Amino acid sequence: MEIFIDSANPDEIRRWLEYGVVDGVTTNPSIMLKDDGYDMERRAKEIAALIYPRPVSVEVTTNHLEQMIEEARGLASWAPNIMVKIPVINEYGEPCLGVVRTLVAEGIKVNMTACLSFGQVVLGAKAGATYISIFAGRVADEGHDASKLIRDAVEWLAGWEYHSKIIVGSIREVTNIQDAALAGAHVITVPPQFMGKLIDHHYSRATVQQFNADAQKALAKMGELRLRAKV
Ligand code: E4P
Repeated sequence: MEIFIDSANPDEIRRWLEYGVVDGVTTNPSIMLKDDGYDMERRAKEIAALIYPRPVSVEVTTNHLEQMIEEARGLASWAPNIMVKIPVINEYGEPCLGVVRTLVAEGIKVNMTACLSFGQVVLGAKAGATYISIFAGRVADEGHDASKLIRDAVEWLAGWEYHSKIIVGSIREVTNIQDAALAGAHVITVPPQFMGKLIDHHYSRATVQQFNADAQKALAKMGELRLRAKV
């Protein structure tokens, strides 16, 4: 299973990259805005260079299908490890499957995004999407079982030998990460604040504190015994 960082903050990405646990990065226009990446091209290039050769997803920003293809070609030309994010449908409900198919045929890696249903996964796989992003938090917002959707999607892809990989995004709680991992997600894209929560534990801290304190006590004892032996 791979872990991507769902962020456009280079400092946060660098931090987790240095720990050796990052396999890629995902962004979207809202994340770019939140992380002050107003100049999307500049920020995307910065992240792409930082994490190379790992992939960074950068999303198109138009509803128009022809323009989407043009924009995606431009995004992909910014760096060799940029993967373009194409929504499964535009905001009018028009399928973007033709965009996915065209770009993949040109050798551009596509992360088909904003997926919330099994049907979308099936059609994305048939269109050849490299990755398919299931938004677990938003699936749950609508009262559906995100773990079941992830499990069904991963099993169906494997059963029919499709090459698309499932990215689980829209993480809202640490348990979402655990649930997605156990449901078989190929990739989970995690906001940096949850990476910190994944590793920390109050009892681990207390355990290390106990060991350090006992090591100091042992050193002190050893010093005492050596002194006595000299007397
Ligand atoms: C990642 O690829 C998604 O764009 C992101 O996780 C969406 O998260 P949200 O549902 O919290 O906006």
